[in-house]
Amino acid sequence: MSIDASTAGASFHEMWAELRPVGRDAGSGGYRRYAWTGADTDCRAWFRAQAEARGLTYETDRNGNQWAWLGDPSAEDAVVTGSHLDSVPDGGAFDGPLGVVSSFAALDELRRRGAQFTKPLAITNFGDEEGARFGLACVGSRLAAGLLTKEQAYALRDADGISLPQAMEAAGHDPDGIGADPERLARIAAFVELHVEQGRALDLSGDRVGIASAIWPHGRWRYDFHGEANHAGTTRLVDRRDPMLAYAETVLAARREAELAGAVATFGKISVEPNGVNAIPSLVRGWLDARAADGVSLDQVVEGIRKAAGEYADRHGIDLAVTRESFTPVVEFEHALRDELARILGKQTPVLGTGAGHDAGILAASVPTAMLFVRNPTGVSHSPAESVEEDDCVAGVLALADVLEGLACR
Ligand code: GLV
Ligand code: MN
Ligand code: MN
Repeated sequence: MSIDASTAGASFHEMWAELRPVGRDAGSGGYRRYAWTGADTDCRAWFRAQAEARGLTYETDRNGNQWAWLGDPSAEDAVVTGSHLDSVPDGGAFDGPLGVVSSFAALDELRRRGAQFTKPLAITNFGDEEGARFGLACVGSRLAAGLLTKEQAYALRDADGISLPQAMEAAGHDPDGIGADPERLARIAAFVELHVEQGRALDLSGDRVGIASAIWPHGRWRYDFHGEANHAGTTRLVDRRDPMLAYAETVLAARREAELAGAVATFGKISVEPNGVNAIPSLVRGWLDARAADGVSLDQVVEGIRKAAGEYADRHGIDLAVTRESFTPVVEFEHALRDELARILGKQTPVLGTGAGHDAGILAASVPTAMLFVRNPTGVSHSPAESVEEDDCVAGVLALADVLEGLACR
């Protein structure tokens, strides 16, 4: 490691060590940092403390996203970097926090270099990126970009029936002002999100850092299979209306349709009523997450699964309702900014697409946006096993510092 790298490394590791225990479940080793819970509040307090320790101007926007400003927050032409601090259920340490911690460490590195900023710089923590609690991903950035209305956001509920505004209020954020924030987004000249790679492309190519090209279109669909509750011991098989059978066959159909379309499709969350070992369920509710390289393939896989589910439901006497809960079209990151990143980092820097969703993908509709990926040696993500080598974390910080210097200091 060079002197530069060890300085950036020290700043990174100090922050990482502080944030590491927050919201970590001792049993699973995974993170449970769900939006507007105590763990999320602790992450937010950490973010604010980092901003204040650096003399940055701290603010929470109307949608609960956090901002730390070097320079005038109301000035035009800002360069913004950051990511999110919330997690999926039992998530890894890096998905989100790597980008936020690297942003503060990159600023420390630029100050060490004596960089002269000609544009305002902001570091952000976007709220509720994973959607683990209210079912919709990227709530903070969607609200800001006008892709989620206040009315739609007010209708979101968690598994205990607590609404999003109630949760915000309980965590000390006034929900009344949530909604599109075009003036704020109009002041952003570029948003760059650094993120752990959620695949092994960089590991296979032997590179520490890559540049994002595109995000696959993706969405979430809720499948409600309504059957008839009855006794598991006394109800003859021929007399049953068992929604679990239609659900199980639909899971297999999802795999088949995804293989046919070269896509991915996952039922990763399920709820069953009444959820008794000795009762045939009255309702099986499963959530489908489907993604593909292009919209046509995604339509093909989603339609194929829906059709198959309808046939299985009919066969078992089940009433089926399918609801699309979210959808994000394909995102092609702006070519000019992407090329600028390649110029700064070197033309040999790999450019790669991803099937994972990000706030950068949501903001790309309104703001010039780019992403950097940092090598993940196993490719595992959304799991406690997610990992990044220490040297690669530092390489990410230095790459981000170079990019921010190139964008905000010329
Ligand atoms: C977020 O990480 C997603 O891709 O669902
Ligand atoms: Mn994620
Ligand atoms: Mn993420």
